[in-house]
Amino acid sequence: MTSQNTDPSLSRRRFLGGATAAGAGLAAVGAARAQAPAPDPLITDVQDWNRYLGEGVDKRPYGTPSRFEKHIVRRDVSWLTASPESSVNFTPLHELDGIITPSGLCFERHHGGIADIDPANHRLMIHGLVDKPLVFTMEDIRRMPRQNHVHFLECAANSGMEWRGAQLNGCQFTHGMVHNVMYTGVPLKLLLAEAGLKSNAKWLMLEGADSSGMNRSLPVMKALDDVLIAFAMNGEALRPEQGYPLRAVIPGWEGNLWVKWLRRIEAGDKPWQAREETSKYTDLLADGRSRRYTFIMDAKSVVTNPSPQAPLKHKGRNVLSGLAWSGRGTITRVDVTLDGGRNWQEARIDGPVLDKSLTRFYVDFDWGGQELLIQSRATDSTGYLQPTKDELRKVRGVNSIYHNNGIQTWHVKGNGETENVEIG
Ligand code: MTE
Ligand code: CO
Repeated sequence: MTSQNTDPSLSRRRFLGGATAAGAGLAAVGAARAQAPAPDPLITDVQDWNRYLGEGVDKRPYGTPSRFEKHIVRRDVSWLTASPESSVNFTPLHELDGIITPSGLCFERHHGGIADIDPANHRLMIHGLVDKPLVFTMEDIRRMPRQNHVHFLECAANSGMEWRGAQLNGCQFTHGMVHNVMYTGVPLKLLLAEAGLKSNAKWLMLEGADSSGMNRSLPVMKALDDVLIAFAMNGEALRPEQGYPLRAVIPGWEGNLWVKWLRRIEAGDKPWQAREETSKYTDLLADGRSRRYTFIMDAKSVVTNPSPQAPLKHKGRNVLSGLAWSGRGTITRVDVTLDGGRNWQEARIDGPVLDKSLTRFYVDFDWGGQELLIQSRATDSTGYLQPTKDELRKVRGVNSIYHNNGIQTWHVKGNGETENVEIG
């Protein structure tokens, strides 16, 4: 809200400028009461959008955000990868609210660019250790019983640059390899039942139709549990960058398994030892050994506001906001500290609390202009408590890139500027 202004030059300008219709009348009343506070021009003047006809319904057959929201975009970090085709950009978490990520702001991670697939020419093949190898068209898949589920997808490398200390200045960059949308698709167990899994089939290999042909091994147990083969997100077809026309949804498990542009599922009796589960997406420990097949994304949280890209601007009333999620179930509690861990308070969770989904939390607080050290820590439905970064390092060392779910710290300075820091 704009506060009332008593500057006489402002009220004069308002008087001259407002020489039409309602604006003139209100401004004249203001001037007559010589010493009264001048009225707010945003209230007294007739604005252009009130004066002229707006755009017709024929101008935006597919809607886009207001032109005043143009800065709210996915961003990349130029030095992070060698080429944009094998790269990543990040969800602007600090600009979003609620739990659903708008489709156009979902971070993207590709190993060989975005495949441009004509759905009429797309097929999904299921073969290997099955009774009846099958090939599905998109129309075949759309005629099978479908389900809707909201789930987060987090890249295993999210927060990966932070293992050795605070590095990137913004939750978009430290935590933005996560998105949360509603998927519509067919349970994989229905497709497998159609093909008839043989009893010795213990693993599946999922393969994409993109130029990287990215593939991963998935235990049959998970496939029969809650995996969806999705063709829609947030009510419409998948976006090309999210795997149009078909992707795997592997709730709670690392994003790399969520094969996009899915074209082939082979059943076998052991994992395939694909590139992305040997050279990559393994967790190198301090003693040189590697943890492998670390599928599940453990509970994690981050304060999205304030954060380096969203500093505090006002003293007094403020809303702290953030996101929490767990690959093992639901979020049951989030605690927040404003003083680097001396005092914790339970955050207010608001909105749907769904299984393996982003969950929104708030702390409504008054800021007196003092420095803050803000952290959040999530607890999930298994009772697991999000660890500190040092607790993680004790077990995992600092060689890893993947599975960093440590507690994030933001330092708010007296002027409201906010920085990524660590406290020991
Ligand atoms: N599937 C294919 N076919 N090709 C890819 O490069 N990238 C994977 C996974 N599926 C990838 C893929 C990785 S590492 C992640 S984190 C997620 O897709 C990213 O999904 P998104 O682009 O929808 O955010
Ligand atoms: Co990834």
